[in-house]
Amino acid sequence: MLMSRKQEETTIKVTNIISSSMKCFLAICIVVSITFFSYSTFSRHPGWLGYSKSNPNFLHFDHTTKISTDTSLLGSEQQTNISHIVFGISSSVKTWTGRRGYCELWWKPNITRGFVWLDEKPPDNVTWPNTSPPYMVSQNTSRFKYTCWYGARYAIRIARIVKESFELGLENVRWFVMGDDDTVFFLENLVTVLGKYDHNQMYYIGGNSESVEQDVIHSYAIAYGGGGFAVSYALAAELVRILDGCIDRYAELYGGDQKVGACVTELGVPLTVELGFHQVDLKGDPYGLLAAHPVAPLVSLHHVDSMQPLFPCLTKLDSLKKLVQTHNSDPGRIVQQSFCYDLSRNWSVSVSWGYTVQLYPSLVTSKVLQTPFQTFGTWKSSSQGPFIFNTRVFSPDPCDRPVIFFLDQAEMVKMGETLTTYKKVLAEPGLGCFRTDYVNATLVQLVNVSAATFQSNTWKKVRNLSVATNLD
Ligand SMILES: *[C@@H]1O[C@H](CO)[C@@H](O)[C@H](O)[C@H]1NC(C)=O
Ligand SMILES: *[C@@H]1O[C@H](CO)[C@@H](O)[C@H](O)[C@H]1NC(C)=O
Ligand SMILES: *[C@@H]1O[C@H](CO)[C@@H](O)[C@H](O)[C@H]1NC(C)=O
Ligand SMILES: *[C@@H]1O[C@H](CO)[C@@H](O)[C@H](O)[C@H]1NC(C)=O
Ligand SMILES: *[C@@H]1O[C@H](CO)[C@@H](O)[C@H](O)[C@H]1NC(C)=O
Ligand SMILES: *[C@@H]1O[C@H](CO)[C@@H](O)[C@H](O)[C@H]1NC(C)=O
Ligand SMILES: *[C@@H]1O[C@H](CO)[C@@H](O)[C@H](O)[C@H]1NC(C)=O
Ligand SMILES: *[C@@H]1O[C@H](CO)[C@@H](O)[C@H](O)[C@H]1NC(C)=O
Repeated sequence: MLMSRKQEETTIKVTNIISSSMKCFLAICIVVSITFFSYSTFSRHPGWLGYSKSNPNFLHFDHTTKISTDTSLLGSEQQTNISHIVFGISSSVKTWTGRRGYCELWWKPNITRGFVWLDEKPPDNVTWPNTSPPYMVSQNTSRFKYTCWYGARYAIRIARIVKESFELGLENVRWFVMGDDDTVFFLENLVTVLGKYDHNQMYYIGGNSESVEQDVIHSYAIAYGGGGFAVSYALAAELVRILDGCIDRYAELYGGDQKVGACVTELGVPLTVELGFHQVDLKGDPYGLLAAHPVAPLVSLHHVDSMQPLFPCLTKLDSLKKLVQTHNSDPGRIVQQSFCYDLSRNWSVSVSWGYTVQLYPSLVTSKVLQTPFQTFGTWKSSSQGPFIFNTRVFSPDPCDRPVIFFLDQAEMVKMGETLTTYKKVLAEPGLGCFRTDYVNATLVQLVNVSAATFQSNTWKKVRNLSVATNLD
């Protein structure tokens, strides 16, 4: 039974979440107009369980980012592009078949350069598909020392990929980027991030493990290999000279990434942490992290074969395919978080673009919204922490959770504007929050988000704007 239909419009402002130091400088103010249509009840029962296609309750809002295009280049040298990167994917004949699909999600045949490094030649009766990166067989490493009792010798082979890649002598290379066969890279964002750095200087760029227990054992000073790390050409040229010696000097270190890290230290080069590289040393569901991603382009996701599927009702591979495809329509905005508040209802909305929306029937501060829900445990011991970022409890009580929506579809509505639609996850019958202040929020079935496409130079403009403001 359809009851009263009411329509209201509110215009509110949200800003992209930003670290407090940047906050006063960041001029990306997103004007959000929310149009709430009626929460018409279509049955005598609480409507929150029923999803009616013909009568969807939905939220709709617009992000209109006011960003002018900046075409100026840094110096006379051409901007870094995908052709300047050589990938080195560590794999083995045994793991490749099962993980190939993850690599092919992001690999662009004839565009991306690099190789999958195998422990041996694949069997002759296997035809190597041209959708996969071409393979190389790593050199024999039996002459090196390896003394880590809880590790495996193949770490040496992995450590040498950067050297063997360099020694191929490929033309016009600015960066060597290492990753695993269960790493998914977001290429445009990788290029954006590396483009900020001068490849003629020595740079070692990547990220730590999210689990403190890992960082304590393996070091905070290294870039974790699965999350991917980038070595500038200038650094690679120095590294290859001493790497083999380092491998023996650091025979007791567990992983290839640790050995490379130790060797980089000998050159006096520190790790440059970029927050978009994700080792994903997390057990369980990475939801919390991706729903409250730091303000940084998403560069990589590792352990994609061990994590729970990102979307309900999809496999791990299909979930990632969905995220990668959505990212194609606006690479810079993928999983970027925005907040908005509806003061007429005292509602808070947190959007992780292309992934999820959270609707809270209360006013929740930015500080809380930007703190990831702990939907995971630590990597090694599945403990409740600590992690290298703060987390908040993801309560089993539905009244202590926001109403959660997941991406349904993304489309380019016009040049420079996307529309993403998020659908509510249906609660199990009998579960869900029945409290009066929750009822209206649980009636919302769909959230539409319109957003101006993210300008890749926005990240740089933030830096530039801060300079300008400081001088004011
Ligand atoms: C990348 O830049 C180089 C110049 O350094 C150019 O030759 C190449 O075509 C560019 N590649 C792409 C994919 O734009
Ligand atoms: C890559 O290019 C070669 C020729 O340059 C072509 O034969 C091959 O089909 C291309 N591969 C893909 C996957 O497009
Ligand atoms: C390739 O040959 C081996 C035996 O040499 C066999 O075990 C394997 O199943 C074959 N693989 C394919 C894809 O035919
Ligand atoms: C690697 O080298 C050692 C000794 O030099 C040799 O015994 C071994 O067979 C080699 N392994 C491979 C896979 O070629
Ligand atoms: C929203 O919250 C404010 C302050 O907590 C309160 O005064 C106001 O009545 C609330 N508005 C609604 C619509 O609940
Ligand atoms: C729920 O929405 C209806 C219709 O907009 C409104 O009359 C009612 O006050 C709301 N209830 C709460 C608890 O906010
Ligand atoms: C929300 O988006 C869907 C397409 O994804 C569209 O069918 C629907 O009309 C949109 N609603 C509004 C209010 O824009
Ligand atoms: C940043 O500002 C500097 C100095 O004003 C300018 O030379 C440079 O081109 C700017 N970079 C970008 C990406 O806007």
